Amino acid sequence: MFSSLKSLVLASLATSALATTYSLTDNHVGKDFLSTFTHQAIADPTHGRVNYVDQATALAQNLTFASGNTLIMRADSRTTLSASGPGRNSVRIRSVKTYTTHAVVFDIRHMPQGCATWPAAWETLESNWPNSGEVDITGTSTSLNCDANVNGNTGCGVQAPTTNSYGPSFNSNGGGWYAMERTSTFIKVWFWPRNSGSVPSGVKNGGSSVDTANWGTPTAFFPNTNCDINSHFGPNNIIINLTLCGDWAGIPSLYNGAGCPGDCVSYVNNNPSAFANAYWDIAAVRVYQ
Ligand SMILES: *[C@@H]1O[C@H](CO)[C@@H](O)[C@H](O)[C@H]1NC(C)=O
Ligand SMILES: *[C@@H]1O[C@H](CO)[C@@H](O)[C@H](O)[C@H]1NC(C)=O
Repeated sequence: MFSSLKSLVLASLATSALATTYSLTDNHVGKDFLSTFTHQAIADPTHGRVNYVDQATALAQNLTFASGNTLIMRADSRTTLSASGPGRNSVRIRSVKTYTTHAVVFDIRHMPQGCATWPAAWETLESNWPNSGEVDITGTSTSLNCDANVNGNTGCGVQAPTTNSYGPSFNSNGGGWYAMERTSTFIKVWFWPRNSGSVPSGVKNGGSSVDTANWGTPTAFFPNTNCDINSHFGPNNIIINLTLCGDWAGIPSLYNGAGCPGDCVSYVNNNPSAFANAYWDIAAVRVYQ
């Protein structure tokens, strides 16, 4: 505790001279995601009960729906699966561009909720995963060591401390904003609920610049002291994925511990309608550099 407080103070002193103002370089909204992100029809690296589909399939099945300032991405909620066949159709997208020093704001209205769901918005360089580090901006795993090789590949996890930062209470509150700042010496993550009175104006209105000095106390702070950012973090892609069961959500003690019935994979196979709320509704992903 004391040593982490100390590193926090030292890191703040060391970085206080760095610029904290960033300009909007990539404003991903609605249909933009169809060209600035790639749908990845890959085998889920976390062994979930999902079948990630390509963009044409996702659009044809309305698993991905992009219009106006809305991006919906969801798991199929219509099909009963055969135990011997592929997993439930779902969507995983990755930004075409990669980023090093930057700030990013995720304006999210709804995230996938329900038994077996494991949604994530995160950054890594997949061609080099986990060696280029990993930051989970939303998600349930928590770790203070950003070296993804150390913590069973969980990387820098963030569990935002307020009840409305995740799952059903996040959704019923209209979601909110997750933001991250990555420099060569630290990674910080913030969360503001939709109805918060303290959302910085650049975050709230999607302004053309943001000043992270005005963002207040971060929800999570990973200074260089816990994690040598330059050696563990290369250029990262932004990735948004929705898996079901798998290495984390499928752990029986977690799955059943959350009050979910039977075993995770059978539940996914046999209960399509249970996934009606397994969707992302994303208003924007804004990158500032
Ligand atoms: C596709 O999904 C969107 C968002 O949920 C919905 O508004 C639209 O009606 C759906 N389209 C079809 C053809 O089902
Ligand atoms: C998304 O995929 C990556 C591996 O490529 C993994 O580390 C991350 O935990 C996954 N998250 C989910 C929710 O699938």
